[in-house]
Amino acid sequence: MENTKFSTLIEKEKIIQRTEEIGKALTQKFKGKTPIVLSVLNGSFIFYSDLIRNMDLDVICDFVTLTSYGNNLTTTGEVKLTLDLMSPIRGKDIIIVEDIIDSGYSMEFLVSSLKSRGCRSVTIVTLLLKPSSLKTNIQVDYVGFEIADQYVLGYGLDYQGYYRNLPHIAYIDNKLN
Ligand code: IMP
Ligand code: MG
Repeated sequence: MENTKFSTLIEKEKIIQRTEEIGKALTQKFKGKTPIVLSVLNGSFIFYSDLIRNMDLDVICDFVTLTSYGNNLTTTGEVKLTLDLMSPIRGKDIIIVEDIIDSGYSMEFLVSSLKSRGCRSVTIVTLLLKPSSLKTNIQVDYVGFEIADQYVLGYGLDYQGYYRNLPHIAYIDNKLN
């Protein structure tokens, strides 16, 4: 795609290791329970599929799609649920799996939507978190990696629709462009 140059931010091996650690921690935390593990599409699909295979539990897999309004790089905070999950959630433990939390508006919206429908608990897992971009007070339970406020792509995250299939996380390297 065009001539934009990228550099690696987080190597594939590091992602695999961290995903195993989080999977183990979730296995401990939810022992004896049957949580719904919820992928926030599209970005989390790769992390999600690796993470659930590191969870030694009986889980129900489900999916939601959120759309946040704004331009490509910033959000206005207006979020809409464009694909809802299929499973009944009243009384259930839900583990939300996100690719990245930036402003936190999407996560805040999703958590309040799930809670208003009577689930028992909500646990938030995100592969990436940009702490300096957060504009909400959400409590994130498991973070793969904290990163600086920069646009990243790969391992599920897109840049202009492409690069989701990169096996590592990359960034747009201004020094090379
Ligand atoms: P938030 O609502 O601002 O927290 O943004 C959440 C969503 O914006 C994420 O789930 C991503 O889909 C997208 N997003 C935010 N930052 C990035 C990035 O650096 N690369 C790719 N997608 C991003
Ligand atoms: Mg996402």
